[in-house]
Amino acid sequence: MGQDLSKIETLYDTVARDYAETFSGEHAKKPKDQEILHKFSRMIGHKKPVWDFGCGPGQTTKYLNDLGLEISGLDLSEKSLNQARTIHPRILFQKGNMLELEFESNSIAGIVAFYAIVHFTEAQVGIAFREIFRVLQPGGLFLFTYHIGKEIIHVEEFLGKKVDIDFTFFPTDFIANCLKEHGFEEIEIIERAPYPGVEYESQRAYVFAVKPTDSNAAQLS
Ligand SMILES: C[S@@+](CC[C@H](N)C(=O)[O-])C[C@H]1O[C@@H](n2cnc3c(N)ncnc32)[C@H](O)[C@@H]1O
Repeated sequence: MGQDLSKIETLYDTVARDYAETFSGEHAKKPKDQEILHKFSRMIGHKKPVWDFGCGPGQTTKYLNDLGLEISGLDLSEKSLNQARTIHPRILFQKGNMLELEFESNSIAGIVAFYAIVHFTEAQVGIAFREIFRVLQPGGLFLFTYHIGKEIIHVEEFLGKKVDIDFTFFPTDFIANCLKEHGFEEIEIIERAPYPGVEYESQRAYVFAVKPTDSNAAQLS
């Protein structure tokens, strides 16, 4: 069984304003985030559209938009989306579920998902990768981040609010194998230590993965 999506939605609705205040400027304090986002932007070039899945208050969407990408944000939490729309009024933010995407197959040039899988079980990560592979154009690029580890942390207080949610850490070999199983190639996983005093002190990973040009969703379904 997976983590209940209504619990995730309730969590981010509950903390939406505090989350936006805490994390909106975070990339400025994380040089590796900046390096990786610049690399993603160069790899995408003029291709479009690009989506930020699990965008929260839209800090990554905005960063990539400032680098010239035609990008929109998608999230489960309407209150987080409202924060994003208020802070970044010129960017489109839309409600949606990464586990059941309402996009045409082979339609998106690039997808980013920063810490969007942190509440999923391993089975739900597989579903997300299958859906992302389906909607990416052949040659499309996927960049995401996660916390490295094996633990599942149950949290009852987050940003000063009472919550009830699991945070899942993933071993890198699970992530690499799961991407391969779902058809991704050119997988590059970049691990880093936490920035002390800036973020929760966990090991982090950035992952680039490509949908092969000679594949399409129909072949795998
Ligand atoms: C840890 S936050 C990350 C937000 C933002 N990307 C960041 O880096 O701060 C996880 C986000 O993923 C969203 N999310 C979780 N499951 C989702 C799903 N199934 N579909 C869409 N968004 C989802 C949550 O609502 C939340 O905004």
